[in-house]
Amino acid sequence: LWLALGIRKRQPGEPPVENGLIPYLGCALQFGANPLEFLRSRQKKYGHIFTCKIAGKYFHFLCDPFSYHAVIRQGRHLDWKKFHFSTSVKAFGHDSMDPRHGYTTENLHQTFLKTLQGEALPSLIETMMENLQSVMLQSDTLSPSKDRWDVDGIFAFCYKVMFESGYLTLFGKDLGNNKNAARQEAQKALVLNALENFKEFDKIFPALVAGLPIHVFKSAHSARENLAKTMLAENLSKRENISDLISLRMLLNDTLSTFNDLSKARTHVALLWASQANTLPATFWSLLYMIRSPEAMKAANEEVKKILESSGQRVDHSKPQLTLSREDLDNMPVIDSIIKEAMRLSSASMNVRVAKEDFLLHLDNQESYRIRKDDVIALYPQMLHFDPEIYEDPLTYKYDRYLDDSGQEKTTFYREGRKLRYYYMPFGSGVTKCPGRFFAVHEIKQFLALVLSYFDMELLDSAVKVPPLDQSRAGLGILQPTYDIDFRYKLKTQ
Ligand code: HEM
Repeated sequence: LWLALGIRKRQPGEPPVENGLIPYLGCALQFGANPLEFLRSRQKKYGHIFTCKIAGKYFHFLCDPFSYHAVIRQGRHLDWKKFHFSTSVKAFGHDSMDPRHGYTTENLHQTFLKTLQGEALPSLIETMMENLQSVMLQSDTLSPSKDRWDVDGIFAFCYKVMFESGYLTLFGKDLGNNKNAARQEAQKALVLNALENFKEFDKIFPALVAGLPIHVFKSAHSARENLAKTMLAENLSKRENISDLISLRMLLNDTLSTFNDLSKARTHVALLWASQANTLPATFWSLLYMIRSPEAMKAANEEVKKILESSGQRVDHSKPQLTLSREDLDNMPVIDSIIKEAMRLSSASMNVRVAKEDFLLHLDNQESYRIRKDDVIALYPQMLHFDPEIYEDPLTYKYDRYLDDSGQEKTTFYREGRKLRYYYMPFGSGVTKCPGRFFAVHEIKQFLALVLSYFDMELLDSAVKVPPLDQSRAGLGILQPTYDIDFRYKLKTQ
């Protein structure tokens, strides 16, 4: 009978199991409504590890941070590819990028590391810095003035500035030799269209990951296809200054895969999404929390001033050519802490691995549990981020939480008197850790340094409450606010 109902019975040595009330879906609805609350209540009831049926699959949630290592150090029993590659296919509609399926021999992981980290980083940062200043001050995206305050939503502001700058940094500019006004207009229209299409598509992203087919969502479907069209090789090849990431991916699509043109284009849409979907809300939370905290603003302003002075640079909005080297960006502990603390409070990613075979999972407390082949093992780091034992007063924003007594990055956090190896995980963990994380943090630092340098900024309502997190994306990364918060800005008088 258990089998006929698709219900699992706990076997000796297995974690406690909850099948949920609804066939197939299991606990999906309760989990989806508020994952953190759901997991905390089950942790209280069952302890460090328990199993929940979610949409036909069995998820083992591991809640003890000292045991995270057992999952993160990629043992031979665990597979990360299955889940990641199939999610990408579901959401973006390209052919499988898993070499085991035979459409490509590209090692994507290598491509990402080679083009987003190490020697690839300085040129990404340099291009981003130019693009940010041009979008903030020279294009008509904002048109700020010295004599007039402009009012905007903080999310809307971050979205516009970061999307356009990030898009141009990865996908280059289509200006040709002829940098005339009409060409600039066309370029602008392309980016604005991309932004609108991205927004439309991003709205339904959680539904696609959950397995709903994209044709259910008419406008989001055509938005995704429109994005893909702009990324066909015939269009990308007209662009200049394309990032190493996209140009290498184009080359490997052509040389190592059997994808057709549209499938190739869709792999680029996947990268557009990966590069923007978390960065945009992370920038919003960083700017919002910074503006709300006078001490954070003061400390950040001083840090930026000092860095610019040390390289002899003057802020001049009529010649916006500030530069921040990689060393400068790595030497900004205050802004680093401002961003980290904002992401601690807004990140809700889930780290998953699939069991390749039946095996025994050994926890830190010497207990072992039997895991069955094809089951999913999941970590939900928001449980760490909101743990009052690790982070005192966890719901409060403290801009200097990640600073030590000497004002440098703090890396020692404790639980039950033991030092934690894992205490901050918005970028995932192990082999699936976000390959763009260094660029992501650098671009947010650049953004904050530039808005602080060029603009006076104020909240319209200085006592405004922080908007709640939109839980519909829980599990997928940085959550968005449920509504926007207004602020006003104008050019600083120098
Ligand atoms: C994957 C977070 C920005 C490129 C991921 C994952 C997370 C993440 C949680 C999945 C890890 C896993 O499944 O365990 C973030 C956050 C960002 C950010 C919080 C910003 C604040 C970026 C940027 C880029 C990027 C700017 C590129 C320019 C990627 C790629 C993957 C990825 C390519 C897929 C890696 C793979 O499957 O091998 N990111 N990310 N990310 N991210 Fe990011």
